[in-house]
Amino acid sequence: MDAAPEANVTVTMREQGMVESKVFSIYQHFNDLPRRAQTVMMEIASDKHAEYLTNGLKWLPASFCVLDANRPWLCYWILHSLALLGESFDDNLEHDVVAFLSQCQDPHGGYGGGPGQMPHLATTYASVNSLITLGGRSALSSIDRDRLYAFLQRMKDPGGSFRMHEKGEIDVRACYTAISVASILNILDHELVQNVGDYIMSCQTYEGGIAGEPGSEAHGGYTFCGLATMILINEVHRLDLPALINWVVFRQGVEGGFQGRTNKLVDGCYSFWQGGIFPLIQRLLQIIEKQLGMMSNGSSKRNLNLPEEICQMDSSHIGLKSLQDVPDVANLSDIGFEFVKRSVNIGPLFHNFALQQYIILCSQIMDGGFRDKPGKSRDFYHTCYCLSGLSVCQYISLKDADSLRTAQEVLGPYSNLLEPIHPLYNVVLDRYYNVQEFFSQL
Ligand code: FPP
Ligand code: ZN
Repeated sequence: MDAAPEANVTVTMREQGMVESKVFSIYQHFNDLPRRAQTVMMEIASDKHAEYLTNGLKWLPASFCVLDANRPWLCYWILHSLALLGESFDDNLEHDVVAFLSQCQDPHGGYGGGPGQMPHLATTYASVNSLITLGGRSALSSIDRDRLYAFLQRMKDPGGSFRMHEKGEIDVRACYTAISVASILNILDHELVQNVGDYIMSCQTYEGGIAGEPGSEAHGGYTFCGLATMILINEVHRLDLPALINWVVFRQGVEGGFQGRTNKLVDGCYSFWQGGIFPLIQRLLQIIEKQLGMMSNGSSKRNLNLPEEICQMDSSHIGLKSLQDVPDVANLSDIGFEFVKRSVNIGPLFHNFALQQYIILCSQIMDGGFRDKPGKSRDFYHTCYCLSGLSVCQYISLKDADSLRTAQEVLGPYSNLLEPIHPLYNVVLDRYYNVQEFFSQL
């Protein structure tokens, strides 16, 4: 006998229904407001966000003790959010953060989650990005690059990938955090890169996205990490990019925000982990076109279910003559710079205004901070990744890095415009140029 229809309703389906009804009532309320009230509701409450973030650097309640091994992450989430909002940092703040992160720096290289804690790749990434975001001489010169390189070498697994910490787990996150810090600090070499690509390749799943480790489920966080890593090591052409695009474009939901994996709920932090995939993918069209061309016949593009724009592309749009035009493997240190300068011939491949609407109306807390979804509380992690995703949306249609100030797509008042990021590292673009200049002079 057939079960009653209610018996087929899963917990996730019920939760999805609840999220949709909360989100749609917010949108309904917005639609019913007079125009002036709509403008107010569409505003990024920058001052409130800055106040919430700045206070978080000074004092946190006892409940934050669970994040005791993540203190450099708190620095990064807060400092990067402030930088995205265009806030500058005074000397005292820079001094205090540099002093704190220097205590987290292990005498043998890398950064731990707090003073005296064992070095870990995730907190190393967070510390390095925090110091780059501060950007001053004392911040940048506090990074011991030689010892950091030695730490990365120790974390390298003979199979090619990296361990998060000594005797720790191996995953795509470890590959990204290791390669990202090595690349941005100009210490990436072939020894660190060796066989990383093989490991990432083994994590691309039948869905097209990338999992945390071989055999797991494709997830936005790991797909961003895997794709960015493959670009940084100059092996991105090895991934099945049409399949990856096919997966990521369907992760944007009716709410306007992104889910992290198939059949899961929308969450503001995926505005960056998924949304941040697009500025990467939109700079890879020459390779994608080549991969599509290599597929048996013309109709295969249609079979892939790719967005209309890609299906209609012909080779005349391609600036790149061949895969040899991708920066040579010998110039690994140039990739971040070359990549951000590369022109974008297509896009956006997601609904960048719908995502801004979700972030501003559903994730934003008008008293300061951002959250996962309506009904949840604000936190620094979601504040960082909602703002990072918002910046991605605003600059996604830029043709190249030189047209920065002319081609933004801002939902709401122009005061909502954030600073642009470097999409491979998620630091504000100016800070990226600054750190490149700093280390090229040494
Ligand atoms: C699923 O949580 C979350 C993960 C499996 C991890 C996601 C990975 C990242 C966010 C990337 C980390 C990157 C760096 C640089 C350290 P869940 O099951 O609670 O959420 P879900 O239902 O939305 O999948
Ligand atoms: Zn989240």
